[in-house]
Amino acid sequence: MPEPLRELSTRAGRVRVFESALAASSAAADRLVEVIRKSVASRGRAVIGLATGGSPINVYRRLVELHVQGELRWDDVISYNLDEYYPVAPGDPHSYRAYMQKHLFDAVKPAANRAHLFDGTVPESFANEQAAGFDRWIAADGGLDLQLLGIGRNGHIGFNEPDDAPLAEALARPSRLERLHPITLEDAARDFGGDESRVPRRALTIGTATILAARSVIVLAFGAQKSEALARAHGGAMTSATPASLLQSIADRVTWYLDPAAASGLAD
Ligand code: PGA
Repeated sequence: MPEPLRELSTRAGRVRVFESALAASSAAADRLVEVIRKSVASRGRAVIGLATGGSPINVYRRLVELHVQGELRWDDVISYNLDEYYPVAPGDPHSYRAYMQKHLFDAVKPAANRAHLFDGTVPESFANEQAAGFDRWIAADGGLDLQLLGIGRNGHIGFNEPDDAPLAEALARPSRLERLHPITLEDAARDFGGDESRVPRRALTIGTATILAARSVIVLAFGAQKSEALARAHGGAMTSATPASLLQSIADRVTWYLDPAAASGLAD
């Protein structure tokens, strides 16, 4: 098991800095497996919130390896994905559904009614209703045992984007259709052949209320481009302008898995 180079506690949680993104991902995958095992042992299932994007790819690669080696059973895992572009065509290779198939689900083969992803094809007038359904389903499943998160350069978590809402509102956002922030669109362009005009302007996202109710949270962040957002999330005030800072409200349940470049702005 990879050991961290550096560990610190901040107002946003426990921070573990590894020598590389790969080492951090491997440690995060081990933690995920441990939560799955414990949850299945204690209540017969594990309810896990999954993320997409560049950051979790090596976590999923490791989970697939462990599954192939017979060290990770997926049978009792119920998963909810954090977000999906809206609108998105069925089978669109840019959809997060396609991402999950490719990086995890083709290998672990969740049962048909156990891997929940937002449907980016629903009529617009029902998009928020669908999202609200996810909050109810997760609550009915007993809440999330673990939420896996990345963080945007603008400090977003899921597609809870920065804004100037009062703190109480920012902490209690339902799952919903959200308009994407300019920095999110810029970063997402990489997945659309570098052409920002092809990125959907909106997305469905799990809201902060459900994320912050999770019994544990893992945040992955790698590379110098994340260091400023991390410095604000860990060292700044809790604010809707940096959604990741809202994790300060549940710091005792949050572990950050970082590489040295991402952690470069964090004070010991
Ligand atoms: P990334 O995105 O993993 O592709 O860097 C993280 C995020 O925007 O939440």
